[in-house]
Amino acid sequence: MLLGVNIDHIAVLREARRIADPDPLDALSIVKRAGADQITIHLREDRRHIRDEDAANIVRLSALPVNLECATAPEIIDIVSDLRPHRATIVPEKREEVTTEGGLAVTGDQPALKKAIAQLHEKEIEVSLFIDPTQESIEAALDLGAEWIEFHTGKYANIYAMLYGNLGNTPYAIPELDLPRKELKKMLYDEFETFRYLSAEASKMGLRVAAGHGLNYQNVKAIAEIDWIEELNIGQCIIARSVYTGLEQAILDMRELMLG
Ligand code: PXP
Repeated sequence: MLLGVNIDHIAVLREARRIADPDPLDALSIVKRAGADQITIHLREDRRHIRDEDAANIVRLSALPVNLECATAPEIIDIVSDLRPHRATIVPEKREEVTTEGGLAVTGDQPALKKAIAQLHEKEIEVSLFIDPTQESIEAALDLGAEWIEFHTGKYANIYAMLYGNLGNTPYAIPELDLPRKELKKMLYDEFETFRYLSAEASKMGLRVAAGHGLNYQNVKAIAEIDWIEELNIGQCIIARSVYTGLEQAILDMRELMLG
């Protein structure tokens, strides 16, 4: 099981003060030393955390493969094509969202996706599509010629947090998941079984399967045990823990849970 560490959240801290520190570039050697397999970053259209110069420096200097998340906006695809990271993960983007809220509508905006994928493939960049776990999405990803899919685990993480994270009656409770525990347990089981079934299906079709979003030290183990999921991309919880333990220890803790 491979671990991609999403280091955007370091740039989030920097941009909170709009100064030069902390610099996500300083994380590269620590992520590698801690045994992670990939650096993941997201160059958003609004550049709210990772900036163009971060992306350029990270791709140029990282000893680990770089997975650059991006939307299909032509300006962004041009930048990614020029930078030539190891992989581009195409994600949906809404300016007003706090973070990427759902998977791509792979069966919807096909012309933009096709154009972006063709341009990335021309530069020998492998392509992953960040999708919700549905049969139609994996079939569409295969038709579009993506090498990878990444399942959006946000819903699984939210249900898990409501069940086991003591969120009830806190400002972080998720109103649409304010449901009886029995119902939440069934939803969690269904979501997990969907990941298991669809990752096997996708893998049989020849797609490589990653997962990510909202995974953390509590909920990661079950997902990491699904044989057909090869890689997890995890950011927020690792950077949050690193405030107290340091980045290297936070990554070591995560790898132990994933591999243990
Ligand atoms: N994978 C993708 C495609 C993402 O957009 C994100 C969030 O930037 C992640 C993984 C990591 O999510 P988190 O920061 O919640 O661990």
